[in-house]
Amino acid sequence: MSPAPDDPGFGLYVHWPFCLSKCPYCDFNSHVRASVDQARWRGALIRELDHYAAETAGRRLTSIFFGGGTPSLMPPETVAAVIERADRHWRLADDIEITLEANPTSVEAGKFAGFRAAGVNRVSLGVQALNDADLRFLGRQHSAAEAKAAVEIARRAFLRYSFDLIYARPAQSPEAWRAELAEALDLAGDHLSVYQLTIEPETAFGAAHRRGELPVADEDTAASLFELTQDLLAEAGLPAYEISNHARPGAESRHNLTYWRYGDYVGIGPGAHGRITLSGDKLATRQHRAPEAWLAAVERSGHATQQRDPVGPQDRLAEMLMMGLRTTDGVRRARLIAETGHAIEETLDPKRLERLIAGGFLVIDDDGLRATAAGRQRLNAVLSDLLA
Ligand SMILES: C[S@@+](CC[C@H](N)C(=O)[O-])C[C@H]1O[C@@H](n2cnc3c(N)ncnc32)[C@H](O)[C@@H]1O
Ligand code: SF4
Repeated sequence: MSPAPDDPGFGLYVHWPFCLSKCPYCDFNSHVRASVDQARWRGALIRELDHYAAETAGRRLTSIFFGGGTPSLMPPETVAAVIERADRHWRLADDIEITLEANPTSVEAGKFAGFRAAGVNRVSLGVQALNDADLRFLGRQHSAAEAKAAVEIARRAFLRYSFDLIYARPAQSPEAWRAELAEALDLAGDHLSVYQLTIEPETAFGAAHRRGELPVADEDTAASLFELTQDLLAEAGLPAYEISNHARPGAESRHNLTYWRYGDYVGIGPGAHGRITLSGDKLATRQHRAPEAWLAAVERSGHATQQRDPVGPQDRLAEMLMMGLRTTDGVRRARLIAETGHAIEETLDPKRLERLIAGGFLVIDDDGLRATAAGRQRLNAVLSDLLA
């Protein structure tokens, strides 16, 4: 069961910044290191957790998410230690969702039983593609067969599992993508994340694109692949609940729903972001990004907070719209009032709102404000218009 639409939940995000190699498309805070001092990292994560827990103690925790980087490279003992500590500080919801992002290599799949024993009850696997040529192009360390085997192991080890695919790869035809999605549906449980390839400037793909060596899907092709994805997955019983996320109703990722519903979450580990409400003020927190700087700061001061700023009313509104309009539920009236003290109509320019509704990009009703599928597909443009 997913939480009631007006309940944003309260989550804990734990960032593990290490990977075996750097994928050419990825601009997440991920680093390759020859060795990691596991005992120091475990100690530092616990210390930073203690620091944030002291401010939010006693709250009911509805999700924990180990993200990265590659958290499946973490020793299961570290995962267990973080979960145990969270249990000491907060009240864990009976149905708490504890997700770990995993790369689908055989070595990592071999650790799934250990993660389950540590308390993880959901894995999200970075499958990315189901053919070896595209996996090589994406710089992945696993074959399609290995990824499929890892999905099978996840299916047996965990109550819930999901996997990620990346589409709109160079020269990918709608026919090829349709066939790949059908194959993915055979492997899927009740959740799938399907991301359109984004060329991030600070990556190897970004550099290749600037040199003119990486052709990317044009807008029309990307739009038709997006629509194809929406239709095929909805038909299969996994409708979109967010731009890139699909689930059987009730199987949505609760942790991500907390972000999109603009709930509170504590973020620990290098570069982690958090949003916590203390005495009515929403605070935006961000930890040091570089792994070594983070580790040194935590060992020195108990935390590596680099930024801790109150989010003013206008920014709260903007953040809430940016997050909420990604989902099919949109921004709920009750949540907007709870966060900003105002109704939707009092906070947004009526002319702009009307124009976007007339254009078929937004819908407003008794529940709140939502983007249509067309609006979600061009959300950045819709948001810049709405918030201009
Ligand atoms: C934190 S990342 C990766 C988790 C894990 N390390 C892995 O690679 O399997 C989460 C997901 O974001 C997606 N992603 C990362 N960079 C992307 C990009 N430039 N374009 C589209 N999807 C991207 C990938 O599907 C990836 O699995
Ligand atoms: S996609 Fe995953 S494995 Fe690849 S660099 Fe990014 S975080 Fe690491």
